[in-house]
Amino acid sequence: MRLYHDAKRLGAWDPRSLDLRRDVDDWARFTVAERDVLLRLTVLFQAAEESMTRDLLPLVMAVVREERLEEQLFLTTFLADEAKHTEFFRRVLDEVCRQSGDLQRYQTPSFRRLFAERLPDAMQRLLADPSPAGQAEALVTYSLVGEGVLGDAGYHVFSTALARGDSMPGFREGLRHAQADEDRHMAYGLFLLSRLVAQDREVWSAVSRRMEELLPLTLGIVSEFFEPYDPMPFGLSLDDTVQDAIARFASRWAALEEAKERGRALAGTPGTEQVVRDILGWVGDQLQPVPIEVRREGTGPVYTFHVGSGRASEGALLITQEVVAHHTAADVIAALRAHRVPERLRAAGRRRLTCISAGGKIIVQPPE
Ligand SMILES: [Fe+2]
Ligand SMILES: [Fe+2]
Repeated sequence: MRLYHDAKRLGAWDPRSLDLRRDVDDWARFTVAERDVLLRLTVLFQAAEESMTRDLLPLVMAVVREERLEEQLFLTTFLADEAKHTEFFRRVLDEVCRQSGDLQRYQTPSFRRLFAERLPDAMQRLLADPSPAGQAEALVTYSLVGEGVLGDAGYHVFSTALARGDSMPGFREGLRHAQADEDRHMAYGLFLLSRLVAQDREVWSAVSRRMEELLPLTLGIVSEFFEPYDPMPFGLSLDDTVQDAIARFASRWAALEEAKERGRALAGTPGTEQVVRDILGWVGDQLQPVPIEVRREGTGPVYTFHVGSGRASEGALLITQEVVAHHTAADVIAALRAHRVPERLRAAGRRRLTCISAGGKIIVQPPE
């Protein structure tokens, strides 16, 4: 929600309003090699932003399906940002670089493999498989690699190339806005990935497998970018660029590992949330039409299933974290059935039942 509010306040810029008149003059003053490297990077950004705009939609749909409203709100700004980035780089190509013809020659094999194959594949797979592991693989590709490693490497090259003097003011202003937008996108990507890895042990292996698979491709894109130049214009260097991008990536990776460890420590075992959802589904069915909802105080040791709609007569079923961490949903449901928990919750005067785990068994208190 904070990112959504930031986006409205800080993300309100219009690529059309940038004054590019000085940039057109500055462009003519660069050497042939300098213009080529800037043009190459702008072409790649434009193509990448176009993919990012097109390929975000399946993630939006996965979030909508899970009814995560706050994230839906943020994602509307995310998608609009990507559209503006596409527009921005296109405008620079047309008006500053004066290149509206076929620029495909700048797209190297590794670049195409990532942005025309791996990224759309990972995102579109979400339509059929919006599982936590599927979402994580999509985010690693889109956010960690696309916006992260490669976006960072690209902005590093732009800022090194345009650091001297005050040339290209309109372009630099647009880059500043776009990069600030990307920071929000990556903060969201990291937020969502952290939640996924904390929830489910399998997600972590999907994340690291995907990362291992994509890193060579990513580094291929960076080195293919530098290949045609000797010496590099603007004093650019492959090593500096890679080191800069890897350093930023390492801090995000460390944050993810931390989230994973925190998740392990808090959740005990994987799949806990699913167990709780399954129990809620079963109890809800038994108690219909009486509403039921589950709450947990932060990472507290108890899940409270509230029965009824907030009046004094409502009952509650308390299930400890121990129970959901060490038993399957089927075991818990069998115990609740054996102890006639739904009937007792519905009965007048029966306010509170507690389900605990002791000596490997599920116990309902008080006994009937
Ligand atoms: Fe973007
Ligand atoms: Fe982005």
